[in-house]
Amino acid sequence: MEAQLIILPGDGIGPEVAAEAVKVLHAIEKRFGHTFALETRHIGGSAIDHEGVAVSDATLARCQGADAVWLGAVGGPKWDGGKVRPEQGLLALRRALGTFANIRPVKVFPQVADASPIKLDRLLGVDMVVCRELTGGIYFGDKFRDENSATDVCMYTVHEIERIVRMACTMAMGRRKKLTSVDKANVLETSRLWREITTRVVRDEFPEITLEHVLVDSAAMHLIQKPASFDVIVTENMFGDILTDEASVLAGSMGLLASASLGAGRCGLYEPIHGSAPDIAGQNKANPYASILSVALMLRYSLGLEHEAVIVEDVVSECLDDGVRTADLVKPGDKAASTAQAGDAVASRISNFAR
Ligand code: IPM
Ligand code: MN
Repeated sequence: MEAQLIILPGDGIGPEVAAEAVKVLHAIEKRFGHTFALETRHIGGSAIDHEGVAVSDATLARCQGADAVWLGAVGGPKWDGGKVRPEQGLLALRRALGTFANIRPVKVFPQVADASPIKLDRLLGVDMVVCRELTGGIYFGDKFRDENSATDVCMYTVHEIERIVRMACTMAMGRRKKLTSVDKANVLETSRLWREITTRVVRDEFPEITLEHVLVDSAAMHLIQKPASFDVIVTENMFGDILTDEASVLAGSMGLLASASLGAGRCGLYEPIHGSAPDIAGQNKANPYASILSVALMLRYSLGLEHEAVIVEDVVSECLDDGVRTADLVKPGDKAASTAQAGDAVASRISNFAR
């Protein structure tokens, strides 16, 4: 197949992990006879430095016209206190693409379960998907500021809740048919609406699904106490942001979790869930697996290449079997693989893949 892909490396370790994602895309192209036209553009701090804005209109337009967009990470201390923040570029892009659903699969690779601070018996069988609402809530509500106060408005419409719940239910139907809706309905009006709509959508449209409502504080605890009990979690924007960082601890490293941001169309935005990690930027030691696993999600959800997606995922798992571990995963005393070595290990296994 032919596809137009936009690559947005961004800031910090973004360009380093982007290089490995691109390596893997090239390996897939060659091995399976596809043609991916890649165009690299600026976002975040790098866009502020080069173009004076966190994302240019031209970049938004190119992304809207593409088959899929891959993004590294944005932000860093260099741009703190500036008029424009790098993160605004990412939020504008999510909005422009209409990617209201952020899918974050959380799986424990047993080979690296020792990298997690959580006891092994809790980690066995952890396999969940967090469906985070991505274009509404407190992230996008009005903001006010005066000398004595600051306000962020959290607003959700019925339509916004319905579509993310339907997306989560569709995911659950292809899995264990269990949905956990996370809210703060004992305090927030938006959460009471969320609970009502979720209950109705599941009852009327997905009666086979078992639904539970869990308050976000309790969900934060259950994620550590009984993580294997979750199948699909659906939640609003900020709760989803916080809970997925917590969930990454189960996997052993933020460097292992990928995400897909999807909307009504086929074009999606694919990113590792980790940030720009300015402390290790430029040192060739960041973990590229989350970026590579984001490529797998792109192949699956935007390009319809399920076979290739599975191969990328299997190959990452093989690399972990073979002990190709970056600094975040390495056992004390062992030598860590560099970012490029881990990417090479994946790419060469794809090139030699027999299936
Ligand atoms: C994420 C990030 C972003 C978010 C930031 C960079 C705006 O933390 O993708 O999880 O909060 O959504
Ligand atoms: Mn986050």
